[in-house]
Amino acid sequence: MAHAHHTALPILSIVLLCTLAASPLAQASSALAVEKGCYSCHSNAFHPNAPSFEQLAERLAKRRGEADAEDQLVNELRKPRPLGRIPPHEQLSEDSARTLVRWILDGAH
Ligand code: HEC
Repeated sequence: MAHAHHTALPILSIVLLCTLAASPLAQASSALAVEKGCYSCHSNAFHPNAPSFEQLAERLAKRRGEADAEDQLVNELRKPRPLGRIPPHEQLSEDSARTLVRWILDGAH
């Protein structure tokens, strides 16, 4: 039985470390995405036309180092599109849009 104790402890520490490693900022941003209803389309299997946040993060990863990527994406996201308007995008405040864009640019974890 001593064996079980020896294996359980390292596993527990790994779980604990992973929990601590998730940054408070990333947690706040994904909570904001929940609060703003982003998940009713993104990362929702019933909305196949909206890319998942993982897909968006992958697509945007190449712009991570660009100086004005964040500003451009914030503007694009909030700008009304004549075809296929997305009110939850348009209704974001600049601050919320910036927080969410930054979160996606950082990998949307
Ligand atoms: C009603 C469904 C819906 C909701 C709710 C929604 N989105 Fe989207 N979003 C889409 C679709 C569809 C696209 C793909 C548009 C395209 O490819 O032209 C998209 C694209 C995006 C993009 C890619 C850039 C762009 O402008 O095309 C980002 C970033 C994004 N959404 C973030 C968000 C965030 C953050 C929220 C929460 C505030 C959100 N979305 C809520 C449907 C939605």
